[in-house]
Parts: sequence; structure tokens; C-alpha cells
Amino acid sequence: MKFDFGLVGLGVMGRNFILNVAENGFSSIGLSSSEEKIKLLKEEGKNFDIDGTQSDIVFIDSLSTPRKIMLLVPAGNPVDSMIDRFLPLLDHGDIIIDGGNSYFDDTERRFKYLESKKINFLGVGVSGGSKGARYGPSIMPGGNKESYLKIKSIFESVAAKVDNVPCVAYLGKSSSGHYVKMIHNGIEYAMMQLISESYDLLRRGFKKDNDEIQKIFSKWNDGILNSYLIEITKDIFSKKDMETDNYMIDVILDKAKQKGTGKWTSQNAMDLGINVQTIDSAVSMRIISSFKDQRIKAENLYKTQNHKTSSINITVEDVEKSLIFGFIVCFAQGLSQLQSASNEKSYNLNYSEICKIWRGGCIIRAKMLQDFMNAFNLNAELENLLFDLNIKEIINSNIESARKISIYSIENEIPLSGLLSSISYFDSFKSGNLPMNLVQAQRDCFGEHTFERIDKKGTYHFEW
Ligand code: 6PG
Repeated sequence: MKFDFGLVGLGVMGRNFILNVAENGFSSIGLSSSEEKIKLLKEEGKNFDIDGTQSDIVFIDSLSTPRKIMLLVPAGNPVDSMIDRFLPLLDHGDIIIDGGNSYFDDTERRFKYLESKKINFLGVGVSGGSKGARYGPSIMPGGNKESYLKIKSIFESVAAKVDNVPCVAYLGKSSSGHYVKMIHNGIEYAMMQLISESYDLLRRGFKKDNDEIQKIFSKWNDGILNSYLIEITKDIFSKKDMETDNYMIDVILDKAKQKGTGKWTSQNAMDLGINVQTIDSAVSMRIISSFKDQRIKAENLYKTQNHKTSSINITVEDVEKSLIFGFIVCFAQGLSQLQSASNEKSYNLNYSEICKIWRGGCIIRAKMLQDFMNAFNLNAELENLLFDLNIKEIINSNIESARKISIYSIENEIPLSGLLSSISYFDSFKSGNLPMNLVQAQRDCFGEHTFERIDKKGTYHFEW
């Protein structure tokens, strides 16, 4: 009796994923150096066909061929070292699946390396955290299609389902799966930033307490903002710290950490020449948050002397509407980056499919993804989500609130970097005429860099 599926890395994500696979009827074996973790796997999986081992040889020998081996180990060197450990033991045609948040260039390199050894490699984004891994993640696979078809039935069984449709689809060649996962995370950063700004407005602007904020988020989750992130946010506001009996949210230090996927999104957007400024803001805000001591020093230095009254009245509904606007804009940015990367790297991505598999299981799942999916179903070549007429309607009914909130935030010194960036993106995107003629004139004036003219083709230099 050989096992259908092998998994390396029995941390909480790995253990939950393999339990999910086994519960769906695929016999599975886990590999880990930790006896403890194997024991835990066997205990939790006692009702399933599941085993665990510390031995590479036992692990490899007990898998049916072509072997399907998924790595859920930290991104970076651990992936390379597992590949090197397994290579002498594998047969041609075996499939290694990297399910971590690997950098897409690393995936590209590993794909080519393993291809030369006749081993198949899939770079697969898995989203949904530890609960998603256990009960249904969103899965974003890339690599060669034949290899995907061999793992398809397992992935479709374990993935989250929306209207009975599994949240997994073959996305494209080589690193496409990890690229799509990176963009997912960039959007995740932006949505989290925008939500945290709404929280700041509610507590600093409207002076709401945690109970009231919980109720507001709960109401929002019943509307167009319905999403996983709004849902967990509402629950966060009701949790108490057992040690102090304070609200948990109030005992958490305001320094946000990051593992790097949001930064990769911004860095690569710059390389591609794509504007994702809401995502950039989210990364920058995590960075500035880490300078807590300097922030406190500056707060004391610039303490507001007189309490100013705002020239503008805002309502909680305006905050909701500005969040709707921001959510749409950050998806528009992420999807436009995907389009650019798909052209540059010939991924041939299908955006409707991507929105479809993001509807469930993943961290950015949201009701509005159905609208985005419809938009790309109507027009697969849509250059930007903002060109869809249904999206235009939604933007038009929320933008005025977003503008009011922005004015209020500036007058009241509440930093809304994500929302301001979203408005700035939108206004720039829909400005047929930007002042970049002046930038071109300056470049030509100091460096003879030349410019194009509006009335005839060619490049010109002027003796300024
Ligand atoms: C997911 C998450 C997951 C992870 C993030 C956290 O889709 O399940 O995105 O991959 O929680 O990478 O990222 P940061 O540590 O950078 O916030």
C-alpha cells in the first residue's frame, strides 16, 4: 500500500493541509524532523489514512508514483535544501509542489533546474491561514499543466468551495501561481491598511468605543463590504485579554511586522512600470509604524495647540463608502499589475478565473469579487477594473464620501495614507491631462533628455 500524497513541514499550516487531504480520502504521509510533530499528526489524523516519518527514504519509498510531494516549509533556503535532499531519491516524472510564499523568481529558477533533472515542479500559492489549510484554502497553482492534472483531484477536493465551485484553477506556466499569490498578498496589505484607517477614524474622529466599533464593522459585513477581513475585524473588537481584562486590541503594540510579500509586490510593480500606490502606502505604513520611539518624540514636538473644528461633517456611512472605494481601487491596482506581468512573462493569465478562485478560502475573499469576476467575464481584455461600467457605478456612488473623509482626515491630522493614495490613483488615472509636460520640459532643460510634442511625431530638444 503506497500513499497518494506526501507533505513536508508539519508546522500548523502543513499539519492542517495534510489532515484536509487525508480527510478527503487521499492517503497521506508527512515528513518532519520533529518526533513531536509526527505524534501530533497521527493523533489528530487517527481517523484517516495518514502516517508520518522522520526518514527521507521511508517517506519517498512509501509514495505511489509519480510521487506528489508538497513542501510547506518557510520560503527561501529551506525550499532549495529540501529539493537537494530529495533529488537523489526521486524518479523521473515525480512532482514537487512548493506551497509556500516563495518569491516568483526563485520559483522560475527551481522550475528550470528541476526540469533539467526531469522532475516536475509546481509553484502553488496557498491562502487562508491555518484554518483555511484545514477546512478549505484558495489554491493558486502554476507550472506545467500535465503535472497539475495529476494533483488536480486532490486540490479540488481540499479547496474551499463557493456555490460548489472549488477555489482552485490552473493559472499558467512556471512562476505564475506564486506571482498571483504575491499580488493576492499585496492586495491583502492594502485592504488591511484601509480597514485600519477606518478604525482610526471611528475611534479618533467619532470617539467610538470598541463595542460600538464592533457593531459598525458587523453592520458593514452585512453589506457590499462583506469579506473575510471585515468579518475577522469585527470579532477582534470583542475579544478581551485574560491577563488584564482590557480589550485585546488595546494591549497590542502598534508596530506592524511583515514577511515581505507586500514589499515584493510594490518592488515588482516599479520594475514593471505599474502604479499600485495604495499597496505601496500599505507597505510604507508598516515601515513607519516600526519607528514607535520617533513617532512619540515627534508627537510631543508637534502637539496640536488648539483644537480646530473641522469644516466638514462626516458620517459613519461616509467611512463605509470610502472603504468600499478603497477596496475597489486596490483590487484594480493588483489586477492591473497581474495583466502587466502576464504580458511580460507570457503567463497568459485569466483574470475572471483568478477572481473566481479568490471568492473563497483566501484572506482577500470578498463579496465584491463576484462583480470583478463578472467584469472580466464581460470583457476578458478589460485594461483596468475601473473601465467596467458596473464598477464605475459603484465608484461614482462612493467617491464623494471618500473625498469628504480625506478632507476631514487632513484637517484632523488623522493619517489615511491608503485612502489618500487610492483617491490620488483614481484622480490621476482619470486625468486626460497631467502636468508631466512640465517634468519633460525640466528634464530637457537641465539634461537635454528630449520630449515628444502634441502636434507632431518624433523626439525634440529645445534650446531653453
Ligand atoms: C494567506 C496569507 C499568508 C500570510 C501572509 C502574512 O494568504 O494566507 O497571506 O500567506 O499570513 O504572508 O504576511 P505578512 O507577515 O507579510 O503580513
